[in-house]
Amino acid sequence: MALSWSHTVLLVRDREKMLDFYTRVLGFDITDQGPIPSGQEIIFLSQNPEEHHQIGMMPARTDDGPSNSHAHIAFRTESMDELRDFIAGVEGEDISYRPTSHGNTWSIYFQDPEQNGVEIFCDTPWHVQQPQGAVWDTKLDDDALQAWTLETFKNQPGFTEKASYVARRRKERASA
Ligand SMILES: [Fe+2]
Repeated sequence: MALSWSHTVLLVRDREKMLDFYTRVLGFDITDQGPIPSGQEIIFLSQNPEEHHQIGMMPARTDDGPSNSHAHIAFRTESMDELRDFIAGVEGEDISYRPTSHGNTWSIYFQDPEQNGVEIFCDTPWHVQQPQGAVWDTKLDDDALQAWTLETFKNQPGFTEKASYVARRRKERASA
């Protein structure tokens, strides 16, 4: 099993200042933005065409101190079998988790022993406009899971093969 770094989601106080800094100073693109089911807004940023988001920002901070408040850290697996191994591990620790597919991922979310949010996910073969999500059945085999995912997300905005999305992002990055 191996984990590779994907993205972090930050709780932010000053939306405009943070977005200005990350886009103008650090060179990120805003790839998507919108409300999650709770109504909270999320803004996605990336510089890497292979990653829909390297950073997410949720304007939800209310404290005045230095930030120590990320929402979750996320790790990618290379296969569904690897993800299933991690699910078994989490279940073995008696940690409850939420399976959520964002259309472009099959993810699980849980909290570590000190209540930091963690996401572990495997990529689907597709891209779809974010944010969005649906609960997926972790007991489905690969074929059934792919069929369910296609049926669930194929009519959502921006749905396409992942390769088409990556090619479009490469072009956008090259002409920026
Ligand atoms: Fe995430």
